[in-house]
Amino acid sequence: MKTSLKRISNALLNSTPSDTMAYENNDGIIAIDAGTGFVKCVSAHIRVSFPSVYGTRRKTRWEDPKEGTVEAVGYDAVKMSVYPDTVLVRAVLEGKIAEEKAFVAIIREAVKKLGRERDVGSLVVVMGLPYGAAQQKQYLEKLVERSLKPRQVLVIPQSIGTLLSEDARTGMVLSIGQGTTELVLFEDLKPVAGTSIPQACDYLYEDLTYLEHEKNIVDKKKVDALTTILANKLAVFQTKLNREYDVYVSGGGVLVERLCESLQAKAHDSLRMVKDPIYSNAQGLYKLGQMLSSTGGQQGISHPQ
Ligand SMILES: Nc1ncnc2c1ncn2[C@@H]1O[C@H](COP(=O)(O)OP(=O)(O)OP(=O)(O)O)[C@@H](O)[C@H]1O
Ligand SMILES: [Mg+2]
Repeated sequence: MKTSLKRISNALLNSTPSDTMAYENNDGIIAIDAGTGFVKCVSAHIRVSFPSVYGTRRKTRWEDPKEGTVEAVGYDAVKMSVYPDTVLVRAVLEGKIAEEKAFVAIIREAVKKLGRERDVGSLVVVMGLPYGAAQQKQYLEKLVERSLKPRQVLVIPQSIGTLLSEDARTGMVLSIGQGTTELVLFEDLKPVAGTSIPQACDYLYEDLTYLEHEKNIVDKKKVDALTTILANKLAVFQTKLNREYDVYVSGGGVLVERLCESLQAKAHDSLRMVKDPIYSNAQGLYKLGQMLSSTGGQQGISHPQ
């Protein structure tokens, strides 16, 4: 653990200047936040989001006499499910790779949606993982290397993105995603303590109904139960710390009706709801890629063990 934290601090403390705003958009970097619910991807020019789902079905005899198979990703996979034999799977569960083939399909789709299929070999791809998924770091790196063949892959604790997108370096992040709620303390960009809480937006929705959050009204009692759990975990975490920190709240959960008000009412301190909760991790990962490539510090970045 020490070695790896030292490597993080070397990379982050020694090679990242204090002004995190001072970077030009770098076209050689893309960030992919492959979440349990949605993939969020960011480049210098655009950002895109789509569901982290992958579908396959057999072609009908009308489409192909030999009956091949059809694959689809994201909203196309969701649409495909009108065919009764469609197999629809989630590529990511609790922030971790659930199905390798499906995961590769969604990250390829991310590169395609960013319009970078042709020059992916020249790109630095920055990806995030939950704090509690450090053991998947090398596996994810190898998988991305093998399947996208980029110039370089960086895998880092995803919630650092929230801090960076808020131009902060020290503070607690409470990121309420689909599969996990991340609670991580960063000291000058070093992840010093954290936990991945299994209750998140999946707790509020049945199966894939979260995809239609505009239409589906979330049960008030479930929101209340979720915020009670999260406020309690936050309070327990805070009791272990030597001082008070700002708490930055991000993730799609921030946009769920009444969730923020309910959480704030139960939290001891005032919470900072971030400006761009859905994209804050991806946007911040992109920013970290810019910072590290401009300082040549990317070799040392690693996940806490
Ligand atoms: N505008 C919105 N209003 C209400 N809910 C929203 C909105 N946008 C997204 N959500 C909800 O946010 C959740 C997804 O959040 P997010 O994209 O942060 O999770 P994730 O990154 O996929 O998951 P994880 O980080 O746990 O792996 C979904 O339940 C979705 O319904
Ligand atoms: Mg997420």
